[in-house]
Amino acid sequence: MSVTSSRKISTAVAAQQRGHSLDRIFYKDEDIYQAELDQFFLKHWIFAAHTSQIPDIGNYLNLNFDSESIIVVRSENNEIKAHLNICRHRGSRLCIEDSGTTKRFTCPYHAWSYRLNGELATARNMPDDFDYAENGLHSVKLELVGGLIFISLSASPPSLKAMRNDLGGLLSHLGIDRLSLAHQKRYVIQANWKLALENYQECYHCAPSHHEFAKIHAMAKSPEVYQKLKSEYWAKYPNNIKFQQFSRYFGLAEHGQEGYQYDRNPLLPNKVSGSKSGAAVAPFIGDLESYDGGASELMIGPVSFFLIYDDHVLGYRFLPLSKDQCVCDVFWFVVENAHNGRDYDLDQLTWLWDVTTQADKTIIANNQKGVNSRFYKSGRLSEMETFQQCFLDWYLQMLSPKAD
Ligand code: FES
Ligand SMILES: [Fe+2]
Repeated sequence: MSVTSSRKISTAVAAQQRGHSLDRIFYKDEDIYQAELDQFFLKHWIFAAHTSQIPDIGNYLNLNFDSESIIVVRSENNEIKAHLNICRHRGSRLCIEDSGTTKRFTCPYHAWSYRLNGELATARNMPDDFDYAENGLHSVKLELVGGLIFISLSASPPSLKAMRNDLGGLLSHLGIDRLSLAHQKRYVIQANWKLALENYQECYHCAPSHHEFAKIHAMAKSPEVYQKLKSEYWAKYPNNIKFQQFSRYFGLAEHGQEGYQYDRNPLLPNKVSGSKSGAAVAPFIGDLESYDGGASELMIGPVSFFLIYDDHVLGYRFLPLSKDQCVCDVFWFVVENAHNGRDYDLDQLTWLWDVTTQADKTIIANNQKGVNSRFYKSGRLSEMETFQQCFLDWYLQMLSPKAD
């Protein structure tokens, strides 16, 4: 980055008032967007998929954002691998379909072919001194967390050790390694990615914007009512492993460790799941016990979130397509071997979070329209936007050049 650009970013960071929404420049400036790619999306861990989405050798899926594409594949020896989706010959996008099954990846341009483990298998008419071993696909760092596959495009990503120490047993208890995907949907949002992420981090908007959600989740209530309901709920289950809190997100993460967060929150009385009526919509997940009327919130890395009901699990992932457009990928998981029509009804399962995410897509795009105006001025945050403030503090710190 040029000196002028980094000076511009430093000036913007210094001018930003704490306790307020971001200044317009952070949503509009191309240099800032490029710095964000470097500091966030090319560095941190991103949820790619659940292992059950690629159960057989040769199953693959692509994770795409901005100008990047990563192939996640179950390779010949049953190991899950991630490769850059770039041919080593002249750089064509290699794997065009977003998901599928293959024995090899064959480039659509000059037909170099690669094994599932990334090794170059065939390259036609190459000189005698051409080295196959030197021309395998570039590998991408990958870690499994329970059944969750995370990738990082950094050569030295933050460590997941602290997260594993705190959450490993808990995730297994919650049955995260025994899920299967029921449905996945990409919501393209006409807004800068931060507006989408910030929106997800505050429930100030839940009561006015999400009537359906507000009928089920206690979180949409005022902070006082919510805290009262939460204390009563936690008091009912004093020794249950699900009832833990870890707040190591953003700036609260240990140095060198990836951020994470876990908490268990109450639903409203007589509700047990995130559905239209609050009733269960799929078979129970996890170790055998009864519905307790709550849901766990889990975050691993800055852009991947999970909402864990007792009968289904939502995954959310926020990724930029460009400075002005982003996606929220939503995943609905049920317990393994559950079938649509027999064990659950897909429309009922997906109803609440489809309607909620559609509403978010609209309010976030409207937010961007207002911010686009040259008359926009950053506004004061509420007491219900403290998590968002925590993100903003960390964001600004990551964005500003490090002091020597
Ligand atoms: S660019 Fe892939 S084979 Fe030529
Ligand atoms: Fe929302």
